[in-house]
Amino acid sequence: MRCPLVIGNWKLNGNKRIVSDLITIMRNELRSIVNCNVAIAPPMIYLALAKSYLEGSQIALGAQNVDIHLSGAYTGEISAEMLKDIGAKYIIIGHSERRTYHKESDEFIVKKFAILKTVDLIPVLCIGENEAENKSGQTEAICAFQIDAILDNLGIKAFENTVIAYEPIWAIGTGKSAEPEQVQKVHKFIRSHIAKYNSAISKQIIIQYGGSVNITNVAEFLVQADIDGVLVGGASLKAEVFAEIVKIAATVKAKQV
Ligand code: 13P
Repeated sequence: MRCPLVIGNWKLNGNKRIVSDLITIMRNELRSIVNCNVAIAPPMIYLALAKSYLEGSQIALGAQNVDIHLSGAYTGEISAEMLKDIGAKYIIIGHSERRTYHKESDEFIVKKFAILKTVDLIPVLCIGENEAENKSGQTEAICAFQIDAILDNLGIKAFENTVIAYEPIWAIGTGKSAEPEQVQKVHKFIRSHIAKYNSAISKQIIIQYGGSVNITNVAEFLVQADIDGVLVGGASLKAEVFAEIVKIAATVKAKQV
């Protein structure tokens, strides 16, 4: 049985006070949470501060990006070793916002995936189609293409102990989440695609859904067999809401055992 995983992606939001306030409430609300892995990914500049507030809690630290080099003359970058050093665990890569605004290619994302594996950090590989691709029935082809970039270059073993986040671009930040049955179909496809190469890894890999997840729709996603967790944007900036999403995830998945 896969343990559900809920990650809050804060994106470009927060300040010192917000980091303190959100984590204080989340820690309190999630004191006794069991059977659900939880992480928050604040902006890079607040990671160390967040880690200090998270100390002794069950909430793990995530990051929203990583450079493709471990060290050297790369002004402005943050390396996988540095993320490891400050205690981060889950690193989001391939997010559509970075693919779009920073022109990150699949080849570049492969390098990020590879560097994370060298220091034993967990890549959270975001994949997903845009609205036009969705309307023209290309969802599965796009997902397969983005996964194959990793598979072809790093091999199936690279997917051991990793996370894939299916985030249809048209559902991100729009309030227009995808239909849970539709998402289940895509997740099942992703798992069976991985299974073609390694059945054990396909059963173990965590596949999250992301895109306008909130308190009212999260249960509908998590009752689906192949939706193992959620990657939450906007709703992760309200501590009580995020904590409630985690509690729902733990309850819904516990019933499936
Ligand atoms: P929203 O939950 O705000 O739609 O964002 C989803 C997302 O992009 C998480 O990475």
